[in-house]
Formats: sequence, C-alpha cells, structure tokens
Amino acid sequence: MEVIVAKTAGFCFGVKRAVEQVYEQIDAGVKPIYTFGPIIHNEEVVRDLEEKGVSVLHTEEELSNLQEGTVVIRSHGVGKHIYELLESRGIHVVDATCPFVKKIHRIVEKQNREGRRVIIIGDENHPEVQGIKGWGDDRTLVVKTEEQLNELPVSKDDKLCIVSQTTFNYNKFQDLVEKFSKKGYDILVLNTICNATQERQVEAGRIASQVDAMIVIGGKNSSNTQKLYEICHKECKNTYYIQTLGDLNPESVNSVRSVGITAGASTPNYIIEEVHTNVRVKF
Ligand code: F3S
Repeated sequence: MEVIVAKTAGFCFGVKRAVEQVYEQIDAGVKPIYTFGPIIHNEEVVRDLEEKGVSVLHTEEELSNLQEGTVVIRSHGVGKHIYELLESRGIHVVDATCPFVKKIHRIVEKQNREGRRVIIIGDENHPEVQGIKGWGDDRTLVVKTEEQLNELPVSKDDKLCIVSQTTFNYNKFQDLVEKFSKKGYDILVLNTICNATQERQVEAGRIASQVDAMIVIGGKNSSNTQKLYEICHKECKNTYYIQTLGDLNPESVNSVRSVGITAGASTPNYIIEEVHTNVRVKF
C-alpha cells in the first residue's frame, strides 16, 4: 500500500520552534521554567511539559509576582510592556515568538513612532493581536468587521498603517483594505498573513484528490483540523477524522491501495508517526 504523509502536517514552523525551545531549556537543566500561556493548544504536550517541571502562567499579575526563573514567551508573542516587566524583575526570558509575528511587532513599533496610526486587522481577543497591539500606543486600533470599520474614531488627517493577524483570512483582509482605501485615507498596507495554514490546506486537498482513503488527525474542537477535514472530504469521500490511532477503524483502510495522512496545527509529530507506521505495517 502506498502511504503519503503531508509535509505540512502538524505543527507550523513557529509552534514547532517554540515547543523545541521549551524542551531545550528542560534538557539544559534550567529551573524553574514557566511559559506565559500554554505553549500550544494541545493538552498532551502541555501535560508532558508540566510533568517535566514547566508551569503555565496565565496573567500579568502572576508574572509580576515572580521572584526568579525563566519565562518562555510562546509563538503568539507579547506586547513590549511584558518584556519590560520581566526585565524589571530580573527574570530570564527565552523569546520563542514566531519570527513572522516578531516582524509585525517591529513594523508596528516603527510606523507608530513615525506617526502612522496602526490598524490591526484581526480578532481583538486573540493573544497574538493583543501582543501586536502592545507595540503601538493608545491610538492603535483593531478591526475585524466592516461595521467596526465604519465606527472607527479615525479622522481624515490620520495617516494609517494596516497590518494583519497572521492567521486572518486573506479574502476578508483584502475586503477590509479595499473599504479603507475607498474612504480616502493615506494608508500603508502590509500584508502580514502567514502562509502556513493555507499551504497545509492546499497540500491536504492535493493529496486527498490522489488517494483512495485520507486520514485527518487532530483534536475534535480544533477549527483548523475541521477545515482540513472538509477540504479533504470534498476530494475524497473516504476521509476519516481521528484524534489518535485508537480512533482509526482498521477496516476503513485495509482494502485500499493508497492512503494519505495530514494533521491539524496542534498535532504532535509522534501521533502522526504512530498513525503512519501502523497504516504502513499493519494494513
Ligand atoms: Fe505558525 Fe508563525 Fe505562521 S506561529 S502560523 S509559522 S506566523
């Protein structure tokens, strides 16, 4: 049987790098280690890290109570004031902010300093957006919908700089940018959407169109995995959505000639490998 595993299955570059950075600290014997927010939306990984002595801090208050230790900043990144807070307390920082997010921080800081009012297109409540906002000032705004755009307290004389949350939908971003342009503002638009999600979806659809059965691995509540399943199911009716190997009914793949495998952004490599090995060896 032919088995094709998607190259883009599982963690994106930024999340993989962040998780590796935490394990590097553990291997180096660093103690105590904290992450500011869970390093990834995957309970098993977070539990494994906890067993190895890594604690998750959730609030700024918890950060300000720290007396010692190392704090790993996750791939979403944080605002400037968090670095300042940790520095003032003498806490060692391992910055695992994804370089693509870091780039947005630098843009926002520079454009804001040079007098442009920064507009972030994204979800105000998402930690990545809160972090980006923390590199601007109190004039920095977040927009997600056309209604919000129409109500913005922006004057015609404001010079704007528009950036995007890395995971924002490209078409919606373009739509909003167009609406801004029509209002006649002086705007500088920087498309800071990351391609990792799109590349994973395109590859999954391509593989699904070539195989007899397709396996999509990921948490049941993971919206990006659900999306992958929909894309694959459109191309291949024998598409199976599983969380771990235990969910896979052997009968579903034992009589086919080719199987494709992909996985959502929070699925660790070892789960993908386990499914891959079993499908190849047993079926
Ligand atoms: Fe991942 Fe970084 Fe893109 S965290 S989704 S590679 S912006």
